[in-house]
Amino acid sequence: MKYTIAVIPGDGIGPEVTTQAKKALDAIAETYDHIFLYKEAQMGACAIEKTGDPLPVETIEICKKADAILFGAIGELKYDNDPSLKVRPEQGLLRLRNELELFCNITPIKIYPKLIKNAPLKKEIIAETDIAIYRELSAGIYFGKKEVSKDKKSAFDVCSYTVEEISRVTHLAFKAAQERKKKVTLVDKANVLETSRLWRKTVAKIGKQYKDVALDFMLVDNAAMQIVLHPKQFDVILSENLFGDIISDVACVIGGSIGILASSSIGEKNALFEPIHGSFPKAKGKDIANPLASILSAAMLLEYLGLHDEADAIQRAVEKSLDLGITTQDLKGKNQYAASTAKVGDFIADYIANQEDSNLNFTNIHMGQSTII
Ligand code: IPM
Ligand code: MN
Repeated sequence: MKYTIAVIPGDGIGPEVTTQAKKALDAIAETYDHIFLYKEAQMGACAIEKTGDPLPVETIEICKKADAILFGAIGELKYDNDPSLKVRPEQGLLRLRNELELFCNITPIKIYPKLIKNAPLKKEIIAETDIAIYRELSAGIYFGKKEVSKDKKSAFDVCSYTVEEISRVTHLAFKAAQERKKKVTLVDKANVLETSRLWRKTVAKIGKQYKDVALDFMLVDNAAMQIVLHPKQFDVILSENLFGDIISDVACVIGGSIGILASSSIGEKNALFEPIHGSFPKAKGKDIANPLASILSAAMLLEYLGLHDEADAIQRAVEKSLDLGITTQDLKGKNQYAASTAKVGDFIADYIANQEDSNLNFTNIHMGQSTII
């Protein structure tokens, strides 16, 4: 089959890691007889530099026409260090979510046994954790009216939700739970916020249509604590935009590395796939960034296109790279040999193309030569 994939490398390490994800996709295309047509587009600080706009119109057009979008990262130190700058890279991503109505962000939190030792939490606590976070992505405080008063001494951000905005992401969360451990936990602040009370009412009503799924509610402050204390109690976590943003990052700690977590942002017509990690400007251009999260984003993209065997092939290749320790510095001890970003990408592509372990030439792997005899 032929697919068009919009590729937005973005800022910082974004271009390096998406290059590796494309290597993996090329290996999939070759092995499973598909054609992936990449259409590159600009967004973020790089787009501001070139066009003055963090989201040029043609980027929106390319994304709308594509079957799926692969995105790298957004943000640069210049903007982090100066919050007063009016035109900001992040506005590009927020506007794209809005334009494409990407209303649901899904972050799977999975534990790779090989990485348990990297996690700051105890093995007994995190082993076998398997959570999917469903975050509402196109409404709430992110997109409400915001203003600074004339005298600059006060400001506000409005958080508002409609039943419809709550319902569409809720249905996706329940459907996902039906295929998993059949539990949804709604994370909110219903003891304080009116929007949270609307969420509870709406989600409880929808829950009745999914009789095989258990529903419970948790206040967000408690949830932040429970996720690190006892993560195994969760299956699907459902939350509004801002709480979902924070909870997703808290949950990332469980996996032992933010460098291997991917996420998808889904709408009715479009879907975008990206690593959880940001643009990591200090590592830019050094060939040291971990490409696995971007490569796993490509696997999620294939899953979305219905290419399940192909997605599995990427997943297996990533697991093999972790098993063999062909990974970047962030997953290694101080004096251990680490592979470069590009070498990890080469290994993954090689493994996808030659999935027999017997084909691996282990002595060559560390030499950075082809891993295939
Ligand atoms: C994310 C990011 C964004 C968000 C930023 C970059 C605006 O943290 O994708 O989770 O807060 O949504
Ligand atoms: Mn975030």
